[in-house]
Amino acid sequence: MAQKKAHPKKPVSKAKAAPAVAAKPVAEEKTEPAPKKAEPAAEKAAPAPKKAEPVTEKAAPAPKKAEPVAEKAAPAPKKAEPAAEKAVPIPKKAKPAPKKAEPAAEKAVPAPKKAKPAAKKKPAAKKATPAPATEEPKPVVEEPAPVVAEPVQPKEEAPMEQQYDTPRRSVAFIGSECHPFVKTGGLGDVMYALPRELVKQNCDVRVILPRYACIPQKYQDQMVYRGEFYMDLGETGRNYYVGIMEYVHDGVVYDFIDNQEFFSAGNPYIGLVDDIPKYCFFSKAALAALNWMNWIPDVIHCHDWQAALVPVYLRTMFQDTPVGHAQTVLTIHNLRFQGIYNIPTLKYWTGLPDEVFNMGAMKQGYEDANMLKAGLAYADRITTVSGTYAWEIQTPEYGEKLEDHLRYHSYKLRGIVNGIDYEMWNPATDPALAVNYDITNVLDHKWQNKLALQEELGLVQDQGKFVIGLISRLTNQKGLDLVNAIVPELMDGNTQVVVLGTGDKEYEDTFRYYENAYRGMFCACIQYDEARAHRIYAGADALLVPSRFEPCGLTQLNAMHYGTLPIVRETGGLKDTVEPYNVFNGDGNGFTFDRYDAGLLLDAINRAKTEYFVNRYHWDEVVQRDMAKDVSWENSARQYKDLYLELTPW
Ligand code: ADP
Ligand code: GLC
Repeated sequence: MAQKKAHPKKPVSKAKAAPAVAAKPVAEEKTEPAPKKAEPAAEKAAPAPKKAEPVTEKAAPAPKKAEPVAEKAAPAPKKAEPAAEKAVPIPKKAKPAPKKAEPAAEKAVPAPKKAKPAAKKKPAAKKATPAPATEEPKPVVEEPAPVVAEPVQPKEEAPMEQQYDTPRRSVAFIGSECHPFVKTGGLGDVMYALPRELVKQNCDVRVILPRYACIPQKYQDQMVYRGEFYMDLGETGRNYYVGIMEYVHDGVVYDFIDNQEFFSAGNPYIGLVDDIPKYCFFSKAALAALNWMNWIPDVIHCHDWQAALVPVYLRTMFQDTPVGHAQTVLTIHNLRFQGIYNIPTLKYWTGLPDEVFNMGAMKQGYEDANMLKAGLAYADRITTVSGTYAWEIQTPEYGEKLEDHLRYHSYKLRGIVNGIDYEMWNPATDPALAVNYDITNVLDHKWQNKLALQEELGLVQDQGKFVIGLISRLTNQKGLDLVNAIVPELMDGNTQVVVLGTGDKEYEDTFRYYENAYRGMFCACIQYDEARAHRIYAGADALLVPSRFEPCGLTQLNAMHYGTLPIVRETGGLKDTVEPYNVFNGDGNGFTFDRYDAGLLLDAINRAKTEYFVNRYHWDEVVQRDMAKDVSWENSARQYKDLYLELTPW
């Protein structure tokens, strides 16, 4: 089967695609319709150009030759579900916009849909039967995803003896990565750890992920085929295979959306040309899969731009399907990535109605569509991963051009700081370490991990050296130009630096250069290596996180939990999780600096060195304090649970 994806190239020629489902009456040249009541209207200040965007330049979707259904080999022969059937007019239930203080800057917001408790856990109907329309039907109608009744998955019940202090809620996590299947950064950690903690807090959690071909074979082998169906997508005129592969671990159900046309690359992220269609497909398929499995969660919790269209699809095409009862939470892990492409391309791949493409939701500037921006408008709640970042992103410095939009939606925005999984990150049991230790014997054993690390990396073996670790994606976000600027001043003969990371070539090359220049004292591991990361957390004395911006940051939490003192810039979650060391009373968890300035970073490192070399007793106290600090998920997961309960107050 052709696995090559249609790259956005040109506007689609309608005639080509063989629509296997009800044809969508979409005219390319539509003018922007006046905003509908329940849709996010144009944010005031935007004198929305009336005309349809010229569909000319910027890669517009190339029509893939009409491939009738036949797609990816299905794992097991299960007859294909009939594709979504006829277009069902979606009744408009004009809801009043949320009443909370609304900054004047914008107008109507998407009406947060109140879930009807009664309907909540009903078995899925064969087909969404819309309630009698009370208002005019929407102009562009999409067919709901196939909702074919399958054997109802019994809801996992809490163990009898377990007493919970809050009522049970079901939550679907939707995101693009999750440890141990696929991880490029902290999002993968959160998608793994938070559901596990929520299970302990009386939640029924399902995590929906793409079934990337790069998921290690040992997990692929343990996945169980759950079913398959076909789904239309945007204006492609094709039906796409959606397989569901399931894996259950520690009370969390993982459902992998299978489609090798989209997920066959060796890396989850390739480039926007590929990633935009991929995540348009994924977000829609995730909702369709929930309907198909007849598992209708109370809350759908989506993560970052890759899943940001979920609330948008939910409140448009899926509003009157069973999953339309769910409430949505969208978490921003990193505002820098938003999923921006030109409007025709996004229209092509999503098939979303025109009213979504207004300045209050998807539209950005004159010709772009922004997936995250739309998700923020349509989500019932927005969270980000620290309180400080929640505030920062409403400022021009950190807002990545969405600060006004976020300020407008600030009534539904809050920060909940990340934690770490204490089973995955536990120096007392960590199999990657040379010597395990805990808070009671850290001072006796941590140095042994340092010696082992020095040996492993070819550094001069000397427990008296001050070892600084840096574990990071090597990107502009992480403050690496500050580090590069001061390396020569750091290398005083008593200091060693270990860098573990991959990313931008300029940083990789600079660190390689330093490794060469300071043999035995500087090590550049330009790789992604989970076990080595654990050994650096254990073997280093300090961990550097001088980020330009940092929504939360997990490496400083891992470091503290391993008795390694963080040296961080006071931004985002770094500010919220690392209390600056106070030389006068010895309080604090690490060493900090505020302005983005190489001199201040050097100063913070020198303060750390002074404590290490001159006041070791105080240093050791901080080591133990950091290990005792609660950086688990327990408290933060409780805040998410509270948020879910707020959204589902029955
Ligand atoms: P971000 O998500 O911005 O990359 P975080 O601090 O939230 O930053 O999370 C990074 C996660 O990725 C941590 O768990 C860290 O240990 C891990 N990590 C980053 N780079 C590497 C690497 N090269 N090898 C192994 N683990 C890494
Ligand atoms: C992002 C952020 C990081 C955060 C992680 C998990 O990748 O860069 O600060 O810790 O997501 O939320």
